[in-house]
Amino acid sequence: MKKVILIKFGGSIMVPEWPDEEYIKKFRDLLNRLSNSYRFILVTGGGGVNERYNRIAKKINKVANDKLDWMGIYATRLNAQLLISIFSDKCYPRVITDPTEEIDWKEDILVGAGWKPGWSTDYDSMILAHRLGAERVIVATNTDYIFDKDPNKHKDAKPLKHLSWKELKNMVGDKWVPRMHIPLDPSATQYAEEKGMSVISLNGRKLDNLQLAIKGGEFEGTVIS
Ligand SMILES: Nc1ncnc2c1ncn2[C@@H]1O[C@H](COP(=O)(O)OP(=O)(O)O)[C@@H](O)[C@H]1O
Ligand SMILES: [Mg+2]
Repeated sequence: MKKVILIKFGGSIMVPEWPDEEYIKKFRDLLNRLSNSYRFILVTGGGGVNERYNRIAKKINKVANDKLDWMGIYATRLNAQLLISIFSDKCYPRVITDPTEEIDWKEDILVGAGWKPGWSTDYDSMILAHRLGAERVIVATNTDYIFDKDPNKHKDAKPLKHLSWKELKNMVGDKWVPRMHIPLDPSATQYAEEKGMSVISLNGRKLDNLQLAIKGGEFEGTVIS
C-alpha cells in the first residue's frame, strides 16, 4: 500500500504574488515521480492573490474579519483548482472544501482548500491528515525552519529543529486574524496537539529537501511534536 503524505502547500511558495509557473511545474514533476510509492493530500494556502484582494477591500471599505477570511477561502479554492488542473487524471477531480466530509478517493492526489472563517488552511490540513491517516504531515512554507521569533523581523532569530506543541502555542497565541503570518494557526496547533500529531515545517521552495522529508530521510526543517 502506498503511504499517504499530507503537504500544506503554503500560499507563500505556490503563489508568492501570482502562481509561480516554473516552481509549480517542478513541484508537479516531483510529485508525479514519487507517486509510484506515495499518495498525496495537498492543501493550498491563499498567498499573493488573497493578500491583494484583502488589501484592496480594506482600502475601499471597513471590512469585518469573517468577510476578509471568505475572500481568503475563495483564493485557496482557486489555487486548489489550479493544482487539480495540472495533475490531470492522477487527481481526485473536486476540491475538498469541508475536511470533515466523507471522502472516498482512489487517485494518487487529493486537493483540499479553505473551509470556514476563523482559521487558515493549516487547520483544515490537520483535520484531513488525521482523518485520512496521513503518515507524514509537512507544512511547506517560505522559511527553512520555525525560528524562536519571526526571522523576517529579527536578524538574530534562531532556527529550532524541534518544538513542542506547548512551545508553539506560546508562540502563535490563540487568536486568529486574517492573513496572519505565523508558523501554524492557533486552531491547527490546538487540534494537532490534542490528536498527538507530529508535524514537519520546512522550506517548500527547496524541492530536494522536501523529497528527503517525504521519504523520511535527514531533512532541514523543524519537527513539532
Ligand atoms: N517564529 C517564526 N518562525 C518562522 N516564521 C515566522 C515566525 N513568526 C512569524 N513568521 C512568519 O511566517 C511567515 C510564513 O507564514 P505565511 O506568510 O502565512 O506563509 P504560508 O503562506 O506558507 O502559510 C514567514 O515568512 C515569517 O515571516
Ligand atoms: Mg500560513
